[in-house]
Amino acid sequence: MAFNNNFIDDLKSRIDIVDVIGRELPLKKAGSSYKCLCPFHSEKTPSFNVNQEHQYFHCFGCGEKGDVIRFVERYFNLDFMDAVQKLCEEYNIPMPEKIGGSKTDYSKYYEINRKAAMFFFKQLTSGPNPGYSYIRKRGLTDQTIVKFGLGYAPDRWDALLQNLKGQGVSESDMLKLGLISKGKRGYYDKFRNRVIFPIIDVRRKVIGFGGRAIGDFKPKYLNSSESDIFLKKNNLYALNITKKDIADQDRVLMVEGYMDVISLYQHGIRNVTASLGTALTENQGRLIRRYTNNVVLSYDSDAAGVNAALRGIGIIRKAGCSVRVLQIDDGKDPDEFVRKNGKDAFEKLIEKAVPATDFRLKNLEQGFDFSTDTQIIDYIQRCVPILQGLSPVEQNLYVRKLAEKFNISEYAIQSEIRAGTESAENAAPIRRYRTAGREERKDQGTEIRMELSFLILCIENKGYLRRIEEDGVPFRTGIGRKVFAILKPMSEETTVGTMGLDEEQVFRALDPEEERLLREAMNEIRIGPDDEKFYLECRTAYQLNRYREKKVELQNSLKVVEGMDDDPGKELEMERIAGQLMELEQKIQKLREK
Ligand code: CTP
Ligand code: MN
Repeated sequence: MAFNNNFIDDLKSRIDIVDVIGRELPLKKAGSSYKCLCPFHSEKTPSFNVNQEHQYFHCFGCGEKGDVIRFVERYFNLDFMDAVQKLCEEYNIPMPEKIGGSKTDYSKYYEINRKAAMFFFKQLTSGPNPGYSYIRKRGLTDQTIVKFGLGYAPDRWDALLQNLKGQGVSESDMLKLGLISKGKRGYYDKFRNRVIFPIIDVRRKVIGFGGRAIGDFKPKYLNSSESDIFLKKNNLYALNITKKDIADQDRVLMVEGYMDVISLYQHGIRNVTASLGTALTENQGRLIRRYTNNVVLSYDSDAAGVNAALRGIGIIRKAGCSVRVLQIDDGKDPDEFVRKNGKDAFEKLIEKAVPATDFRLKNLEQGFDFSTDTQIIDYIQRCVPILQGLSPVEQNLYVRKLAEKFNISEYAIQSEIRAGTESAENAAPIRRYRTAGREERKDQGTEIRMELSFLILCIENKGYLRRIEEDGVPFRTGIGRKVFAILKPMSEETTVGTMGLDEEQVFRALDPEEERLLREAMNEIRIGPDDEKFYLECRTAYQLNRYREKKVELQNSLKVVEGMDDDPGKELEMERIAGQLMELEQKIQKLREK
């Protein structure tokens, strides 16, 4: 088959009319379409409409209308070929050689596919057959069969072949469409004893078929071979039926299988589609983007499904959609789940679907053991590339989440992110912060030092363990948390009346490096005669440090917000942060005066 029509369709699926026209004219969003003054006639109020969903423009004033190519033809005064060429150049799409030749008429092929679909449908619906029993066994109703035009390919070598021949279809055309194959003894039907899922594009053309084996035969699914009219990468299953529900609900559920789509649809969840047995493509992302910006991925609960989701997230985000990931907690796929638990339960899963970034960060956690600091550091460093791909606002949000989760400073994570983008020199903050390494000791003001001061006091006087908890002093360094965790049960065990704790027992529970650090701190830190005075000093120093950190974080967010595009919320957000900074400054002042 030659190129042509199909190339044009492909071209159109890769570019967005709103983008093309928006570069030339000041389009304004008005309801579901975009508007501006018509470039083709003079007017005072805008009647030039651009519809993104249908990829179409229409001027109600002068009647000019058409697709994106038509716009380029008219606006730049080009003929069809030059308009196509211009678009290809602008969007970096290679021009096929043959485009200049005569246009191939694809309608003939769509018509043959339609005939085949009718044949399969009749086989399924007129009289008992294995396909019908199978479909019913899987819970589908007659209404669903009609809605999706399901069919059955009989268990014979030439059922479709003979039928189409009788309707005057040539074998070479059937072959081109992948309906038949050629063997030593001539042509034979490609689909035999299979349930047939016709694949219909958004213009309602039958472009191909998926056939499921009845029972455990291999391959489980057989699909039409790729041809000029069946390009899997440009299409999504059942969008012809579900696109309206998707646009109305402004949300799409992407699933893996044909059966998932159909089963969900039958259960009343209709804003659903699936890729055609391949990984999601960028073109499919752009296709869905015409109907909604909100994608919920609902893939199988197995490892393959998780990987498909991880890959899909990037593709869909690239198309400009926001992504959430739904996790099936009962059954292997959406079909199984909804059959077992019903529509309401599935809708609850949709509500619970997690944002893509949470899903990716959560997924990264596998194999890490967060009881050791080095693992936390490694994990956070693995998170950095994900964080770098986020918008500033999102980035801030997730940095905060991570900081809270692992009890480390937001500033340290921010530094890692910057280090990842700028120079490697800055990459140290988390490390410096958390490892019980040599450098910390030199730095008198460090967190570790401060935490150890508290803890040494507790070893002398276990009563302060309670105080620390009551005052909410969090231990954030690895050694701090570890020593605290060791002391806590010890304080409960030791006999009433003794004030101190057995330091040797603490040393035994530590690594050599940690032990060394604690011993040194114990030698250097003088608690003095007044425990309470020492405790209060520690607390003030600690608080001051926290405030300073918070200050840096706020200054950072201020910078981030400042750098954002102008937005009604921007000013407000800046004021809010500035307000917090002032409050903080006052607190710091007060503490210093004490
Ligand atoms: N697929 C395919 N070829 C295969 C297996 C799968 O093209 N050999 C595609 C089909 O489009 C199928 C999708 O991948 O719908 C998902 O496959 P899978 O999860 O294995 O199938 P289910 O949809 O769960 O099918 P069923 O419920 O019928 O077992
Ligand atoms: Mn299934």
